[in-house]
Order: sequence, then C-alpha cells, then structure tokens
Amino acid sequence: VSMPLIDVFGRVHRSLRISVTDRCNLRCFYCMPETGAEFAPREKLLTFEEIERLVSLLVDRCGIHSVRITGGEPLVRRDLDRLIKMLAALDRLDDLSLTTNGLLLAEQAERLRDSGLRRLNISLDTVDEATFLRISRRKGIDQVISGIDAALRVGFDSIKLNTTAMKGITQTEIVDLVRFAIERDVELRFIEFMALDTDRAWQKADVLSGDEIRAIIESHFGKLTERDRPHASQPAESFQLSGGARIGLIRSVSVPFCNACDRLRLTADGAIRNCLFAQNEFPIRDKMRGGASDEELLDVIVTAVSAKAAGHGMNDVFFSPPDRPMYSIGG
Ligand code: GTP
Ligand code: 5AD
Ligand code: SF4
Repeated sequence: VSMPLIDVFGRVHRSLRISVTDRCNLRCFYCMPETGAEFAPREKLLTFEEIERLVSLLVDRCGIHSVRITGGEPLVRRDLDRLIKMLAALDRLDDLSLTTNGLLLAEQAERLRDSGLRRLNISLDTVDEATFLRISRRKGIDQVISGIDAALRVGFDSIKLNTTAMKGITQTEIVDLVRFAIERDVELRFIEFMALDTDRAWQKADVLSGDEIRAIIESHFGKLTERDRPHASQPAESFQLSGGARIGLIRSVSVPFCNACDRLRLTADGAIRNCLFAQNEFPIRDKMRGGASDEELLDVIVTAVSAKAAGHGMNDVFFSPPDRPMYSIGG
C-alpha cells in the first residue's frame, strides 16, 4: 500500500461504498420526494469500466479492502452483475457486498451470487402492506419478502435485514419484524433515522433510539445479550436473543460511531465523498474522462480524505443537513 488513506484524525480508510445509480423503484419518505426527483442522466453516471479503474487504484494503492454497492436502488442499474464480476475478480479485494430494497431480488439473487457477490443487506422497515405503502409510497411488501426468501435460498456468506426506525411508525412493527427474523434465522438491524430526507423534515424528536428499540424487544422476547463487534468500524452493535436470534442496533444519532469510521464513498455521478454528511465532495469523473493519470486521481482521493470532518454533527445546535439526500449520496 503506497498511499494509505489516513485522515487528520488518524482514521484509516479501508472500505468504499459505491453508488451505482440514484434511481429507485420506491419513494421512501425518509429518503426521496413522493414525485421522484431529477435523476442524473446516463452519461453522467460512471461506467463500470470507470468504477473498476477507481476501485483497482483504491485497492492496489490505498489499501481499500472492502466494497459495498449501493444506490438509489442498485438492482435497477442495468447489467449490474457485470460490474459485480469485474470487482469480484480483483485479487486484493476481500469483501464485496450490496445493500438493496429487495424488490428485484427474486429475479436477480442467483445471478448476483454467481457473479461473486458475497454479502447482502436488505431493507425491511415493516412486514405489513399498509405500513409499507405509507413508508415507501409503493406497493410491494410481498415482492420484497419473496426477494428475501430467494436470497436465503440461493445462499450468501451473510444476509442481514435493515430497518430504518422512526418514532410513530416503527414501534408497532418491531415485534412482527423480530418474529419474521426469528422464523427465517436471519440477522435484523435497526437503524436510527438520520437527517438525510429530501424534504428536510428530519427532527431529533423523530428518531426512535436504539435504547427504546431494545426496551421494546426485551419486553417481548427477553434479555438481549451483547455479542462481540467484529470490527470497531462497523456501525452496528450486535446482540442475541436467548433463542439465538441476532439483533443489531445502528445508533448513528444517539451514539455516533464517527470516531471509528473507515468509509469513503463514490457517488453514482462520479464524486468522492468523505462522509454521508459532508458539505462538499470531490468530483473525479471529468478528470478521468479528461485523461487524468492514476497519480492525478489519487491526488483527488487523498485531498477528499484529508478534508473529512470529525463527525456528522447531527447533535450540534447549528447542524445543517447535507446538500444531497440519501438516494443521491448512496446509502
Ligand atoms: P456491514 O456492517 O458491512 O454489513 O454493512 P453496513 O451496515 O455498513 O452497511 P449498510 O448499507 O447495511 O448500512 C446500514 C446503515 O448504516 C445505512 O443505511 C446507514 O443508515 C448506516 N450507515 C452506513 N454507513 C454510514 C456512515 O458512514 N455513517 C452513518 N452515520 N451511518 C452509516
Ligand atoms: N436515515 C436512516 N437510514 C436511512 N436509509 C435511507 N434513508 C435513511 C435515513 N434518512 C436506509 C434505508 C436502507 C439503507 C440503504 O439506508 O432504510 O436500509
Ligand atoms: Fe429507494 Fe432506498 Fe431511498 Fe427507499 S431508502 S427510496 S428504497 S433508495
């Protein structure tokens, strides 16, 4: 590793999240406007070859060892399995994963696994059709559940369910979600709602905290015992129910984990972002298209890392949300 990505706080960056599209087949209110948005035109999106070039550089020269594909909804990007194959072929990349809303998984799970995808996180905020419609403004809970079941059948090294937890919505879903996870023997993680909605309606009062979630789970299912967090940089704290079911809490707001962050992001339209909440980003696509050398691209990446702030600031009095909502940054 000739150019390790260490920021001014000493954090070593070893994982990359790549958004492959800003489009999505859902309209979750905590992420997108109901009417959709102005999506990036195709020519502004990085091609798979451009993504591969950047990932190779980051893996070979900077010590990035883990890549997660995100969106928007990554499975709406045409021929995604071709990108998975290209990345899976990179020798020094030892972790390749994807985060999806599950709608297209039933048809794609097998192809994704055969292309070399190892780990899969699937969003599931509710198992109830009416609540699904209320959150994502589309129908489709049955399709998501079929997608989850297809993924479980096909088999990945790891499959986890992600629930974005919001006050007034999630409390009543928790018990059913935990039962769903127990039935399928799959890990379920609750994510505290963050200020990444397009409508900028987020308020701290809307956050259902990890502690509140834990209390609800324990009152129905008994004590949760703590499991080891394999890597300090992982956002989720991991627990277990007495029957063995695994529950995770991602307490991004109530217990920020920014001090252990090792993540860098690449947006679908080709910019390096050093944080979900960054106020600025570092465009790299046009440099690449203009014939920049590897060294010039590395310069942009190193500059982006050095500009990384200490944390997201959601708990600060003068917090202002980032200029791009979740779907356009990439989860
Ligand atoms: P693994 O632990 O490797 O399975 O992945 P992950 O949890 O990092 O990835 P996933 O895409 O499932 O992320 C789950 C949630 O964690 C996201 O939806 C975000 O809400 C949150 N998250 C991921 N990365 C960050 C980050 O850099 N900062 C903050 N505050 N939250 C993040
Ligand atoms: N706060 C927390 N999590 C969010 N996600 C999307 N928007 C937000 C938000 N405002 C989650 C989705 C999905 C993942 C890609 O990001 O629920 O699990
Ligand atoms: Fe789509 Fe995910 Fe945003 Fe929902 S949270 S609109 S599934 S990108």
